[in-house]
Amino acid sequence: NKRVKIKTILDQHPIGSEITLMGWVRTKRSNKNVSFIALNDGSIITNYQVVADPNLIAEDILKKCTTGACLKVSGTVVESQGAGQASELNAKSIEVLGEADPEKYPLQPKKHSLEFLREIAHLRMRTNTFGAVFRVRHALAFAVHQYFNDKGFFYIHTPIITASDAEGAGETFKVTTLDIANPPRTEAGSVDFKQDFFEREANLTVSGQLEGELAALALSEIYTFGPTFRAENSNTTRHLAEFWMIEPEMAFYDAEDNADLAEDFLKYLINYALKNCQEDLQFLENRLLDEEKSKPADQRSEMGLMDKLKFVAENEFVRITYTEAIEILKRSKPNQKKKFQFLIEEWGADLQSEHERFLVEKHFKKPVILTDYPKEIKSFYMRQNEDGKTVAAMDILFPGIGEIVGGSQREERMDLLVNRMEELGIPTDEMWWFLDTRRFGSTPHSGFGLGFERMVQFVTGMGNIRDVIAFPRTPGNAEF
Ligand code: 4AD
Ligand code: MG
Repeated sequence: NKRVKIKTILDQHPIGSEITLMGWVRTKRSNKNVSFIALNDGSIITNYQVVADPNLIAEDILKKCTTGACLKVSGTVVESQGAGQASELNAKSIEVLGEADPEKYPLQPKKHSLEFLREIAHLRMRTNTFGAVFRVRHALAFAVHQYFNDKGFFYIHTPIITASDAEGAGETFKVTTLDIANPPRTEAGSVDFKQDFFEREANLTVSGQLEGELAALALSEIYTFGPTFRAENSNTTRHLAEFWMIEPEMAFYDAEDNADLAEDFLKYLINYALKNCQEDLQFLENRLLDEEKSKPADQRSEMGLMDKLKFVAENEFVRITYTEAIEILKRSKPNQKKKFQFLIEEWGADLQSEHERFLVEKHFKKPVILTDYPKEIKSFYMRQNEDGKTVAAMDILFPGIGEIVGGSQREERMDLLVNRMEELGIPTDEMWWFLDTRRFGSTPHSGFGLGFERMVQFVTGMGNIRDVIAFPRTPGNAEF
C-alpha cells in the first residue's frame, strides 16, 4: 500500500486501516516482548508510535532501527494502549531504508544546544525545534503570497545580479567573471573592476526596490519576495549576509497608506501562523518556557509566545515621528538599567538598537511605527518633507527584534530627486533608467521591505537569526 504521512493518520486513517509509513527513528525502547519505535516524517511535530513484536519482525532488522535510521513500516492502525496518543501502528513488516550508525550519528536523543546544532546545520532539520521552525517559515512564506494575491498585487521577480546599489550604502558583494590570476588592468595598473561582469561592473542585489518601483509605475501594486545580500561585516543575532526580503511597492500610496498596509500585512502573517501552525507554536512556546527557567526571574518574559503574538495582532501599533522619539529618549532616565545606557543624543543621530528596544519594550510596550527621519541618515530615494530636514521614511520596530520593516514614500519629483542624488554623489547618468520613471508619468508612490527572517524570528521566538534560515550565510560561513 501507498505511503501515508503521519499528519494525516488521525483524520484519514481510522483504527483498522492498513497503512505504510516512511520516516526517521527518533527513539526506540525495547524489552524482550516488544519494541516501541517513535517515528517522525517531518509532516507534523509529533512522532508516531510503531509497535514491533519480535515474533513478527526479525531481530537483525530491529537491531538496525536505531535513532536516525530511515524506515518503511507497514501495518495496522490500532488503538493505543499507552497514554498520549490516540492510535499506533502494529508493524507487520519493517524495511530499513537507511541505517544510522549509533556510534557516529550526531543527533542522539538528548538535548542539544542550538550552538551545537548550528555546526550540523545539514542534520538539524531532523530535530523537533528545527522541524517546527521550518514548517512555520513555510507557512509564513505561503501567507505572504496569499495576502498579496488576495489584494490584487502582482509578484515581480527582480534580478539578483545588478549594477545598482539600491540602498547606496556600498555594502554589496561583487559579482565577477574575472580571471582572478590574470585580471584586466586599468592603464594605471590596478584591477579594472568596471569589467567585472562580462565587461560590466555588477554586484548581488541589496534590495529589489528600484526595479520594484519600475513595476509599480506600470502595474500599480506589486511585491517582490527574494534573496538579498549585504556585505556588512556584522556578527549579530539580527543580521545575515544573505536574507530574504518582501518588498511591496504601490503607485498612488502616500506615507500613511504605506504604514496602514504594513501594519495590516504584519498582523495578517501573525494571525495566519496562529491559525495554521498551532502545534508547532505550542512546541516553540514550551521550548521558550524551558529556556526562561534558566534565566533570573526579572529577565523572564511576562508573556508566552502565543499570547505575545496575539497581543501584537490585536493591538494598534504606535505611530510617532523620529523627532517625538528623540524627545522621549531624552526625557527618559539613562542608566536606569544597564540594558539601556543611552548615548542619545541630539536630533539627527541614528537610533541604536538599544534606543529602539527602549521605545518598544519599555516605553510603549507595543510595536512602533517610527516616521519622518532626518534625511541625512536615510536613503536617497525617500521623499523630502516640507521642513527640508526630514524625509517620509518609516521603520517598524518590534519587541525583541528591533527594526523589522524599513520603507518610505518615494521622491517622485524629478528635480528634488536629482538634487539629492547629486548631493550624495550618486551618478545620475548610470541611473537614467530609474530617473525615467520620474521623467515619464511620475506619480506619488510608496513601499517597504520586510526582513523575512526577522519576521520568522518574531513568530517562532528564536533568539538568533541563524536559527530561522536553513543554511545561514554570515561572515565566514558558507560551507553548507
Ligand atoms: O531597511 P532596509 O535596508 O530597507 C531596504 O532595503 C528598502 N529598499 C526596503 C524598501 O523600502 N523596499 O531593509 C529592510 C528590512 C529591514 O527592516 C530588516 O528587517 C531587513 O530588511 N534587513 C535584514 N535582515 C537580515 N539581515 C540583514 N543584514 C538585514 N538588513 C536588513
Ligand atoms: Mg532600514
